[in-house]
Amino acid sequence: MAFELAPLPYDFNALEPHISARTMKFHHDKHHQGYVAKTNSAIEGTDLDGKDLETVIRTARDKSDQTLFNNAAQVWNHNFFWTSMTPTKRAEPTPELAHAIDDAFGGMSGFRKIFKEVATGEFGSGWAWLVVGDDGLDVMSTSDADLPLMHGKVPLVCCDVWEHAYYLDYQNERGKFVDGFLENLLNWDFAVQNWEKRKS
Ligand code: FE2
Repeated sequence: MAFELAPLPYDFNALEPHISARTMKFHHDKHHQGYVAKTNSAIEGTDLDGKDLETVIRTARDKSDQTLFNNAAQVWNHNFFWTSMTPTKRAEPTPELAHAIDDAFGGMSGFRKIFKEVATGEFGSGWAWLVVGDDGLDVMSTSDADLPLMHGKVPLVCCDVWEHAYYLDYQNERGKFVDGFLENLLNWDFAVQNWEKRKS
């Protein structure tokens, strides 16, 4: 059973003016679709055909199959990224998560500052993540297709900082794109869901 490209959870233009419909259409229909197609063609007829996406990613990592790892991980990362954003702005996380953010970052503005530093500090293509691990909340970046699950961390939300995520709208100004993500798009409901899930 091949993987399928899941539709966006909102319209292509729903995140405007922070991310244009044109960017979303290219990003989802070309880039994300490309990762899905390449993953499917790599596993067709192999033992991984029919396995869930996380198994494919972990197996590719364990076998040092970098091409399959990159494509399968990018499918997972993009699925997670679309849901990390919402056109219906929710200003605050739940009190419990807000308290954890206070502990880890000194408050919401501290979280945004650190997240932006990490997101803009990732030198090449990659991802910025709010994660929870044994030591509580943290912000981390990963390069290329890498993801926190490979590092024993549970992601709450992520921001794609590959140029294809923002170049049409912001050119080289990654920081402005990240500001828009943090202040207007971040889906705190999804962060809370993942925060609650890691407790079960
Ligand atoms: Fe992307």
